[in-house]
Amino acid sequence: MREHPAAQLRERGTGPVATAVAHPNIALIKYWGKRDEHLVLPRTDSLSMTLDILPTTTRVHRDPEAAHDTVTLNGRPAEGEALRRVIAFLDLVRDRSGLPHGSVVASENTVATGAGLASSASGFAALAVAAAASYGLALDATALSRLARRGSGSACRSVFGGFAVWHAGPDSGTGAEADLHSYAEPVPVGDLDPALVVAVVDAGPKAVSSRAAMRRTVHTSPLYEPWAVSSRGDLTEMRAALLAGDIETVGDIAERNALGMHATMLAARPAVRYLAPATLTVLDRVLGLRRDGTPAYATMDAGPNVKVLCRRTDADRVAEAVRDAVPGCTTRVAVPGPGARLVDGAGR
Ligand code: ADP
Ligand code: DP6
Ligand code: CO
Repeated sequence: MREHPAAQLRERGTGPVATAVAHPNIALIKYWGKRDEHLVLPRTDSLSMTLDILPTTTRVHRDPEAAHDTVTLNGRPAEGEALRRVIAFLDLVRDRSGLPHGSVVASENTVATGAGLASSASGFAALAVAAAASYGLALDATALSRLARRGSGSACRSVFGGFAVWHAGPDSGTGAEADLHSYAEPVPVGDLDPALVVAVVDAGPKAVSSRAAMRRTVHTSPLYEPWAVSSRGDLTEMRAALLAGDIETVGDIAERNALGMHATMLAARPAVRYLAPATLTVLDRVLGLRRDGTPAYATMDAGPNVKVLCRRTDADRVAEAVRDAVPGCTTRVAVPGPGARLVDGAGR
């Protein structure tokens, strides 16, 4: 039987090992659409909350003798596009470090992969931090955010804890100069005690990746430009509402921004529809909660699952109401969580 590559490396004792943990983030102002596919430069700014639950742990073991990368994702060898994305990411790190070495990468998500619950965000934030350490790149948080962005745009926000804004960078810019101007940073927040109730109605992988769906939307949806324009105004209003600690306004803006994003996809050709019947049932329930006086607001990403923004003190009741509305729906309550960080091999 062939020995597992990681065990071989341990025996030879070559190459540094680094392990990182990162959490998913959920955008209140969405990133939807790139202006540069290669550099992962977005069309608009976006703003998110990093969660305190559902972390990804990624271990990178650089081997000076390896010409190729070996990648396992959730205990299985990565294949196809998932493998290509990790290798392309490591190529960037190899370029910058000047070390051509291959690596053994093992990543475990606790969030469902490809279900619209931001696995690419926690996944590439953790990979950026672990790979940078393993290849000896001394990067500050801003540089790590830029790097994580190259793996998956939303990942640049998971480098930071709490609330973060991702600057698109100057409108016209592309190339190396534009790369420098597009990164996330923490957002100041006033007296807000928020929770996001993560309501999972379907944990299965999406049929169309976020990447492909946003590309199709930008290229074919007549509603894309109007949404992008209005999203800029949403971001300005959102920053003010966060500073003011005004959860009703924060929720209201987040909900309209997300529904608008889904409208752009529904108008794409062919249409991209992530919203399922159960999604709409949760939306109705959230509306009912609001009518009864509980501030609760929904946001959905590239998948059928819903995240409900509410006060932390209302979160258990909101979660129960959502579960009651949809048979089989499971919920988790998240509050603002930490940024991506290096841990020891045991994940501490
Ligand atoms: P999601 O809604 O989960 O972010 P995406 O379509 O944006 O879905 O991205 C899913 C893809 O992200 C996966 O198919 C895989 O290519 C990549 N991905 C997810 N988790 C990881 C991880 N831990 N490490 C590396 N890549 C990952
Ligand atoms: C709907 O960051 O997953 O979740 O950059 O192509 O990897 P790529 O896309 P990704 O897109 C996330 C889209 C979203 C909104 C958001 O997180 O802002
Ligand atoms: Co994603």
